Amino acid sequence: MLIKKSLLLTDNDVTPKQAFDNSRAIISASRRQFLAQSSTAMLAAGLAPSTLWAGHKIEDYGTSRFSIKEKPTPYEHVTTYNNFYEFGTGKGDPARRAHLLKTKPWSVTVEGEVAKPGIYDLEDILKRQQLEERIYRLRCVEAWSMVVPWIGFSLAELIKQMQPTSKAKYVEFTTLYDPEQMPGQKSRTLKWPYVEGLRMDEAMNPLTLMATGLYGEEMPNQNGAPLRLIVPWKYGFKSIKSIVKIRFTEQMPKTSWNESAKHEYGFYANVNPAVSHPRWSQRRERVIGARLFTPKRDTELFNGYGEQVAHLYKGMNLQHYF
Ligand code: MTE
Repeated sequence: MLIKKSLLLTDNDVTPKQAFDNSRAIISASRRQFLAQSSTAMLAAGLAPSTLWAGHKIEDYGTSRFSIKEKPTPYEHVTTYNNFYEFGTGKGDPARRAHLLKTKPWSVTVEGEVAKPGIYDLEDILKRQQLEERIYRLRCVEAWSMVVPWIGFSLAELIKQMQPTSKAKYVEFTTLYDPEQMPGQKSRTLKWPYVEGLRMDEAMNPLTLMATGLYGEEMPNQNGAPLRLIVPWKYGFKSIKSIVKIRFTEQMPKTSWNESAKHEYGFYANVNPAVSHPRWSQRRERVIGARLFTPKRDTELFNGYGEQVAHLYKGMNLQHYF
């Protein structure tokens, strides 16, 4: 198996604090510029300027050795070109409608094969986690990608605190079900609530992130506030948004997209240019926010994270377990 060169930073590459602060200043300056210039662009996209996200800043977070060294996709694309079917199937629907979602207070139910089941207040969960910024590429199954400066914490740390039993082989995640707040749930595009799952070793991999923000701010609702998963070596649909339940199971959990079209979306959903989707190729991807006529980007096996995750699938036929 050919594993492409890792995109990850080594310890020597970690940006010194001053440079990191400068780069954050650049990000926030370009965001201010965006805020100033955005009204016209938003009107053109059919969004009222009042839908512009005004999130609270997250004050305390570190950097990550897992960040890729690529320029993040502009904020306005990250927050206005979304997949969040609970708010509709159009890319602009989540930004238009996700203000209906109330994200505070928020609790997460932990159940199944675990020593510490319960209903946890998200605020209490966050008190015990170390937040860091991780710049990851999210590669969507629809053959486009974005690079996002996510803020979050390691799922592995949370799992260790919850103490799964020896029977826990998988972790299942569930999104909120509330058609009043999530009007897309009134139509039958998917079987609600949205569910996703990981094998325990995938969930425990240090790359797997529980994200609570992006671009230095609390997560915009359309991106999955207040808590979502980011699994950077898998197609974007595994990165479930607005999580209200985490269940530890012995059996492989059902997942929404697999249930809706088994032949198109597998449980593993690892980014793999050699395995086409039945209706389109996965060899290349459109880079969201790139200039017009920018060539498509070659998709990398495991989205470039082969060094960190290829061992999880040793001996598995990835054509079969797609
Ligand atoms: N989570 C929920 N609950 N509902 C969804 O429709 N869409 C998925 C994933 N998580 C989705 C979801 C898909 S297909 C993708 S590509 C990513 O979210 C998109 O994340 P983004 O909008 O932050 O780019």
